[in-house]
Amino acid sequence: MSTTLTSSTDLRADILALKEERKAVILAHNYQNAEIQEIADYVGDSLGLAFRAQETDAEVIAFCGVHFMAETAKIINPTKTVVIPDAEAGCSLEMACPKEDLAAFLRKNREKNYYVITYINSSAEVKALSDVICTSGNAVRIVEAAPKDRPILFAPDENLGTWVQQQTGREMELWHGTCYLHVEFTRDSILQIKDEYPDAVIVAHPECTTAVRLLADEVCSTEKMISFCRNTPAQDIIVVTESNMLNRLRREVPDKNLIAGPTERCACAECKFMKLNTMEKLYRCLRDLQPEVTLSESVRKAAEAPILRMLELSK
Ligand code: 13P
Ligand code: SF4
Repeated sequence: MSTTLTSSTDLRADILALKEERKAVILAHNYQNAEIQEIADYVGDSLGLAFRAQETDAEVIAFCGVHFMAETAKIINPTKTVVIPDAEAGCSLEMACPKEDLAAFLRKNREKNYYVITYINSSAEVKALSDVICTSGNAVRIVEAAPKDRPILFAPDENLGTWVQQQTGREMELWHGTCYLHVEFTRDSILQIKDEYPDAVIVAHPECTTAVRLLADEVCSTEKMISFCRNTPAQDIIVVTESNMLNRLRREVPDKNLIAGPTERCACAECKFMKLNTMEKLYRCLRDLQPEVTLSESVRKAAEAPILRMLELSK
């Protein structure tokens, strides 16, 4: 590939050379584009990425995902430099739960003494107000481990929260937030593709609505989608999540017919935030060590405890 960024004509080789020079590790979420996934040292879901960030001895973490994921890496690695290709890579769930709103809600309901379980798709400040963090990969286990004598507030994804309630039978107060992308899958859009592939099985992310989850043979995190697709005897699999997930799936499960779940609007659903990261921006962030993720020590420390609790409960 040619680039105006460097004198070389091979951006991939330039990124790898810079990575060596910086003693960096490249971590990438399953929703990153194929080129980024292929150059990364590790590709995974939010939980796997948090574990990798905790384990690494690299000096620099180049985090190809959305901002809250890079921030999580910084929270558990305060002495390392954490950079993200595009600092504008946010998340609609994070936006649905501003720290002031959560703090005000907890103040107003102080007498309820909520045990606050917060989805990792949230800001460091919101994590700092929480008892424990969860991801889609461990939410059931985290809720099952919650104290039985306290009411649970689950924030900010009401769809994941509803699914976890159904899995665990535990009543929870749900914050009203959604992933803007996963709620675009509808019962009709999935039934339509199922008509085209009547023998297909359906795997869906728990951020989808209940109507869509009810059509699924399996509901799970992006990481667990790999083993589901590998192990199912079905040949055709409809994958109802961000469509770049299929980059990883097609590499690891090449013998199956993997079909991107469509929304009402498009055949392939891409997260507009994840998409902001590019190979050019990855090169620049390794070269300039910018944009860097920084946090005040008081917020970092307060956010670290519920993340470490989650990692401990997930081992
Ligand atoms: P996973 O942790 O399952 O990869 O989900 C992250 C996410 O942002 C889903 O939209
Ligand atoms: Fe956030 Fe949805 Fe994008 Fe995941 S797909 S990062 S939940 S906006």
